[in-house]
Amino acid sequence: MPVPGRRARYRNESRRGRYPGSRQPIAEGSGPVLLISAGIGLTPVLSMLHELAARRSDGEVWWIHGARGPREHPLAAEAHTLLASLPHTREQVFYSAATTEQRRRAHVADGRLTRDKLIALSLPADATAYVCGPASFMADTQQALAAVGVDPSRIHTELFGALPSINPGLTAQSSGPPHLPLGPSGTGPLVTLARSGISTPLPDTSRSVLELAEACDVPARWSCRTGVCHTCTTPLLSGDITYSPAPLDPPPDGEVLICCARPGTDIVLDM
Ligand code: FES
Repeated sequence: MPVPGRRARYRNESRRGRYPGSRQPIAEGSGPVLLISAGIGLTPVLSMLHELAARRSDGEVWWIHGARGPREHPLAAEAHTLLASLPHTREQVFYSAATTEQRRRAHVADGRLTRDKLIALSLPADATAYVCGPASFMADTQQALAAVGVDPSRIHTELFGALPSINPGLTAQSSGPPHLPLGPSGTGPLVTLARSGISTPLPDTSRSVLELAEACDVPARWSCRTGVCHTCTTPLLSGDITYSPAPLDPPPDGEVLICCARPGTDIVLDM
């Protein structure tokens, strides 16, 4: 029986290759690999980077990512560590709305990751590319890759979006796209809902991650809301949570019951 306040923690070694949207198999071989993402598209390509690190790939690996700034760039340290474990990597991050100080960091360039900026990186034409991000970003990236001579058969794209909600007893309701919570900015740990592109400090009014998701109109899955039914089980991609109340049975390692979970640190969830 778990004790109240029991902490659940993401464990890196148990998540290898299990990031959401990682159904795309990464090609065998030693040719250059381009992992290109923007915003919420980071998590599927991170699973591919895990796979390359696990294989101890000695080929060229490019990691190219676009985000607004470091606060909207979860899992950056994890990607950086994986890249450092490989012998031939190139990392380039673009921040579109960061401070001058934040842009001074290594591997960070100024502005949005656009078609022209990708072309200017002198990407290898014999590469295999894996691309994930918003639809317009993926279209621009495919054009850029074609412009540098990457064979279309070696350009792989992956759609990545929120799962449908499960709300028993409620009639279907139409809501707009996910948005930041209304009202004053929270003061709690940063909560990133990766599939939905939401990254926000926990508001003081949210007693659980589920309540935050609802405040953002993020599709959520729940039934009992008291840690009993496990309908709300959600993968925890990074960070620590605490439970209140403690669930009767804990979820599997690497997953959390969002109806009674609060972030203990900055967290990233697959929702
Ligand atoms: S909704 Fe039942 S355990 Fe969370």
